[in-house]
Amino acid sequence: MQNHLANSTDRSPVGVPHFHYSDNALYVEQLAVKALAEQHGTPLYIYSKAALKAAWDRYQEAVDGRDVLVCYAMKANSNLAILNLFAQWGAGFDIVSGGELARALKAGADPQKIIFSGVGKQAWEIKKALEVGIKCFNVESIPELTLIQEVASAIDKKAPISLRINPDVDAKTHPYISTGLKDNKFGIAMEDALATYEHAMTLSHVEIVGLDCHIGSQITELAPYQDALARLLALMDQLKTKGIQLKHLDIGGGLGIRYLDEQVPHPRDLINPTLEALQARGYAEVQLALEPGRSLVGNSGILVSEVLFLKQGESKSFAIVDAAMNDLLRPTLYDVYHGALAVELKAGDKRRYDVVGPVCESGDWLAKDRDFAIEPSALIAIESAGAYGFVMSSQYNSRPRAAEVLVDGDKSYVIRRRETIEELFEHETIPDGI
Ligand code: LLP
Repeated sequence: MQNHLANSTDRSPVGVPHFHYSDNALYVEQLAVKALAEQHGTPLYIYSKAALKAAWDRYQEAVDGRDVLVCYAMKANSNLAILNLFAQWGAGFDIVSGGELARALKAGADPQKIIFSGVGKQAWEIKKALEVGIKCFNVESIPELTLIQEVASAIDKKAPISLRINPDVDAKTHPYISTGLKDNKFGIAMEDALATYEHAMTLSHVEIVGLDCHIGSQITELAPYQDALARLLALMDQLKTKGIQLKHLDIGGGLGIRYLDEQVPHPRDLINPTLEALQARGYAEVQLALEPGRSLVGNSGILVSEVLFLKQGESKSFAIVDAAMNDLLRPTLYDVYHGALAVELKAGDKRRYDVVGPVCESGDWLAKDRDFAIEPSALIAIESAGAYGFVMSSQYNSRPRAAEVLVDGDKSYVIRRRETIEELFEHETIPDGI
């Protein structure tokens, strides 16, 4: 579907066929991005339902009918419409707050497929999760275990728990999103694991159901998972000698996606060896759980912005667009690459630009050193914006948050309307008499 002009951009789309060029214009499924931008304005997040389904199907192909629960880590993109799709497809959900629990339930999630992660669960969140009957709390510390016991006994429920163990492996990813190292705030240290499980056994309103670990995000190699698994299996053996039978093993999320030219493992490269290892070790009856976020949604969305001005600096040229770091924080926060595509490919000389937003910070950039033949009012699409995009957006500089649109074939749906200027300050009051 791509033509010669498409191939002559700095690179082609990240390889998701649902985003493609036709007659030099970028499409999401059957709809032209330009028409969507005209209809809904910019900045605009556009997601492809077919791309979401394809990402989900990759996991399902890997699962291949076996007892594996894929819990979508909804922090990656928690729009109700997207959660609803995953719920329809049978996903469980990995949540990290009472707000996420409410969203998941509103979107039709099955509580018995909800896993509650996070280092700072609060009493009200634990209570709500117990009341609706979630599958499991992934417990990250002894004080949290004590709180869960207290809350559960107050309402006379038994809390199903896993301990999140920190296996001390290097996921070889960005330090901000690496979570399985000793120095991270996450999980219970491996050397404390057995004693903590033994302590959990003594608690009247806690039921041990699993073991959990999550080592980081945007992981592109399998070795860190293998290292972590070896340690988890050794712990499972120890637990067995103490009479602790686990119902599930949760190996977290973290599989990377392609932003540039990363070679990322297929979910089956993770799932098959893990199931084989469980079987070989005598744990065939233990259910496998996963918590993927980015790999289910990341390549299914783009952020479309309009070029406001082209500015020739002394050493650089800038395409100043109407999307900014408040809309997509990842480049600023992690100094990472996202593809940037001209929505319409025009013949003509290309110039090298930094794509930057209107926010008053030099860190406000979306893409650096990209070659485009563009003019003011051209549209630029930032790729791989489906994960940790809108959810990390803010109103910084009093910029209303973007609209979100879901495309399904030749139809589009507004799944979050653009915020209005009035909504920027609707929760604020000027006290009388100040
Ligand atoms: N489970 C737990 C306990 C997590 O903390 C996370 C992500 C996931 C699952 C999902 O990981 P994924 O499959 O999406 O890699 N804002 C950062 C990513 C932060 C990830 C935090 N935890 C970014 O934009 O790269």
